[in-house]
Amino acid sequence: EQRQAFIAGIPKAELHLHIEGSLEPEMMFALAQRNAIDIPFASAEEVRKAYAFSNLQDFLDIYYQGMNVLRTEQDFYDLTMAYFQRIHADNAIHAEIFFDPQGHTERGVTFSTAIDGILRAMDDAQSDLNISSQLIMCFLRHLSEEDALATLEEAAPYLDRISGVGLDSSELGHPPSKFAKVFAKAKALGLKAVAHAGEEGPPDYVWEALDVLKIERMDHGNRSLEDPRLVERLQDNQMTLTVCPLSNLSLCVVNDLKDHPLKKMLGLGLRATVNSDDPSYFGGYLNDNYEATASALDLDKDDIIALAKNSFRGSFLDEETIAQSL
Ligand code: ADE
Ligand code: ZN
Repeated sequence: EQRQAFIAGIPKAELHLHIEGSLEPEMMFALAQRNAIDIPFASAEEVRKAYAFSNLQDFLDIYYQGMNVLRTEQDFYDLTMAYFQRIHADNAIHAEIFFDPQGHTERGVTFSTAIDGILRAMDDAQSDLNISSQLIMCFLRHLSEEDALATLEEAAPYLDRISGVGLDSSELGHPPSKFAKVFAKAKALGLKAVAHAGEEGPPDYVWEALDVLKIERMDHGNRSLEDPRLVERLQDNQMTLTVCPLSNLSLCVVNDLKDHPLKKMLGLGLRATVNSDDPSYFGGYLNDNYEATASALDLDKDDIIALAKNSFRGSFLDEETIAQSL
């Protein structure tokens, strides 16, 4: 189709991607076998059938179970390299990827094992695929702030390779303010800050992410539209929203892509971007998200171009590189 070719032709950046969420069922089986781990599924088909979620927590339970097959540095390398190869086909030229160190250290896989494999793939993606990337370390918000502080300590030897910190996992009941201290500390260390907010949580959580955590980019942010003063604030700050349409559909944040707020966000002058979140679990990579949304919301070429440009404007690339990408 014409729209598909147009989307494929535009260079893009991905700003909201959990690397553990790019674990495809086939790789899950391969790694389970390589590491002699039992998994409660008979086939990749069966795994895919289990991916029917009614909310964020439903998904998270399966996501944390899935990452259990990741054990060695090579596993993290293979996972990350497969993601880069996949988005290379989508004409993505830059990616800022999340990882969840606590999802690994909790089950006895060291911080270094995870990050060394991810970083080696990031280096190879630059040299072999010409894809630049940056790494964002997320804190799991269902765990304590003390746990997050300990994770920040563990990251000390790697701070020159980590661009920022993020906040993910179960949103409801875990407001951003719970992590005020660890975010202040991360910022003092020169790290950037982002946070998931307004995916399932109320506008108050988005306010806290802005005012308490002092984030430079908002992950999701959908529910911001319920609060006109918040919309004004996001407009005034030119805050980037990393929106994830197929994720929102899978997790019932929206009931139909036709009801997705992305077009409204663009109409309000908000700096919205399109991203895949956890592509293996939500049924699509970067271009799949652009295509499904463009089709459901009847986005025109200018909208699609605006979304791709926003992905560079909202990135942590330096000003000159951003200017060259626009
Ligand atoms: N971890 C992985 N994907 C997530 C999402 N969409 N929201 C919160 N935590 C996550
Ligand atoms: Zn996410």
